[in-house]
This record gives sequence, C-alpha cells and structure tokens, in this order.
Amino acid sequence: MPAGEALAVCPGSFDPLTLGHVDVVERAAGLFTRVVLGVAHNADKAGRHLLSLEQRLDTARASLAHLPGVEVDVVPGLLADYCRRRGATAIVRGLRNGTDLDAELPMALLNRDLGGPETVFLAAAPGHAHLSSSLVKDVARHGGDVSALVPAPVLPVLVAALGT
Ligand code: PNS
Repeated sequence: MPAGEALAVCPGSFDPLTLGHVDVVERAAGLFTRVVLGVAHNADKAGRHLLSLEQRLDTARASLAHLPGVEVDVVPGLLADYCRRRGATAIVRGLRNGTDLDAELPMALLNRDLGGPETVFLAAAPGHAHLSSSLVKDVARHGGDVSALVPAPVLPVLVAALGT
C-alpha cells in the first residue's frame, strides 16, 4: 500500500447487507483512505447462509458503488491473515449495544494475537441500532416490507432467495 494511505477492512457475513452495514462503511470511508468490505467465506459454513457468496459480493458491490475508495472482496480464511496480506491499518466493526461489545471484544483481542491490526469500533447510528441481518431475514421470510432496511440492490435478491 502506498505510504500515507490507511486501509480499513470491514468484515462480516453480510447475509444480507443491511443499511446499518452501509452506514458503517460510509463512515469508515471518511476516516480511512481506502476501505474493503470483506465478505467472510468459510466453506464449512457455506450451506448455512441464505445468500450465496456470489450474491453477497454482487449486491454489496452494487450497494457501495457510490463510494470511491471502497472495494468488496472475499476474506477466504482468517481475517488477521487477510489484513496482514493487504497491509490493513484497522478492522472496523459497528457496535449496536452491549451484547455486540461482549461478542466483539474477544474477537478484537484474538485478531491482534493472530497478528492482525487494531479493531476500531463505530457506534451504530441510532436509526440502525436495532437492525440485524437475522431480523431482516425473519421479517422478509414472513412477507414483511424490508425495503427501508436494506440497500435497493439487496431487496430483489433477498425476496427471490426466500421465495416471498
Ligand atoms: O457478520 P458477522 O457474522 O458478525 O461477522 C463475523 C466475522 C465474519 C467478522 C468473523 O466470523 C470473522 O472474522 N471470520 C473470519 C474467520 C476468522 O478470522 N475467525 C476468527 C475471528 S477472531
């Protein structure tokens, strides 16, 4: 990475990407020169996702196309290894509440033990603090309107995947 540049990795499953995720990436893009939305890919977990890796990558690319300096990539194994390979300055994660913090702290510390960079936490915007991919799927699965919760490119893919 060129000197003076700072790269942040925003990792996650993004099954599906929500407007909460987009908000975190937009704010990270204001703090770092470049941002990678890293879609974690664990072959063992592949069957447990609603959306395929390709669907998550494609919808994320379409949803973040308005942000210069932001790219979407696969994190194929350990996040710490990926960050080292890319020369990342930081991992960025959104925090919605104390439950998130309890889950995130051990990951942040372990990633550092594994040779990864520091984790920077961004407080979720109040309007997004209740949003999660699981809740979005649950609402959509039961025919609820999630158009205000996910980026426009995600909606048709989500609806088709659920057959709703
Ligand atoms: O969106 P999620 O499911 O909350 O994201 C969790 C994620 C993908 C950030 C985490 O599972 C991860 O980093 N996976 C990559 C494999 C890895 O490095 N695991 C050890 C984390 S300490």
